[in-house]
Amino acid sequence: MGLTDVIADNLRKPGSGLTGWIISKLLKKKNSDVITHAVGACSVEPDHHVLEVGFGPGIGMAAVADIIKTGSGKVYGVDFSQSMVEEATNRLSEEIKRGKAEVQFGDVASLPFQDGSMHRILHTNCYYFWPDMNAATKELYRVLKPGGLMITTFVYERLVTAEARGFLPPGVWKPERYIDGLNQAGFQNVERKSELGRDEKTHFDVIYAYKNNDQI
Ligand SMILES: C[S@@+](CC[C@H](N)C(=O)[O-])C[C@H]1O[C@@H](n2cnc3c(N)ncnc32)[C@H](O)[C@@H]1O
Repeated sequence: MGLTDVIADNLRKPGSGLTGWIISKLLKKKNSDVITHAVGACSVEPDHHVLEVGFGPGIGMAAVADIIKTGSGKVYGVDFSQSMVEEATNRLSEEIKRGKAEVQFGDVASLPFQDGSMHRILHTNCYYFWPDMNAATKELYRVLKPGGLMITTFVYERLVTAEARGFLPPGVWKPERYIDGLNQAGFQNVERKSELGRDEKTHFDVIYAYKNNDQI
């Protein structure tokens, strides 16, 4: 297996070896802005229950934990990399002790939560790794509360570059694929917007997907 394949594998599922360790460092350095933007777009309230799928090092979960600390909310995370589960568990150890965070090993296609249990769901740099898009979006729709919102953010040019370097299989990252999966699962008012980041330079793509109040 060549270096490009090893990097691609560890981006999809960071491992416990040296490459996984380097990828984890890179995720923290390169993706913090995308994650912070996703948390902002979620309009999290202190009493919300919030799920992050594919949390990686746990930066997004930590940002949500900061918002919900004054209320009755809780942040949940599911990721199918054991080493990311360990890293996020360390990062959120205080919140876990206080019952404000729960970090779980698992797959987006089979989430360990009840129907309609989450006010908000977010994920970044993740949907293009899901082997069965419709199974994933159906499951996310199931756990979202009626009236709830799911957000993902990305920077289009970074995904084009990742594909050109061989880190992502051709086409899997195309937002249209994900949006189609959202519509098929029943999400409403699915919308892709371009938003200016806090640095007033970076433009983030943000995909909003709602479950209307009259849905079960
Ligand atoms: C490129 S990393 C992104 C991590 C973080 N969200 C970020 O933006 O830096 C992709 C993450 O999604 C997780 N992941 C990929 N496919 C998954 C799946 N089917 N179910 C749960 N987690 C998954 C990986 O283990 C990894 O932690």
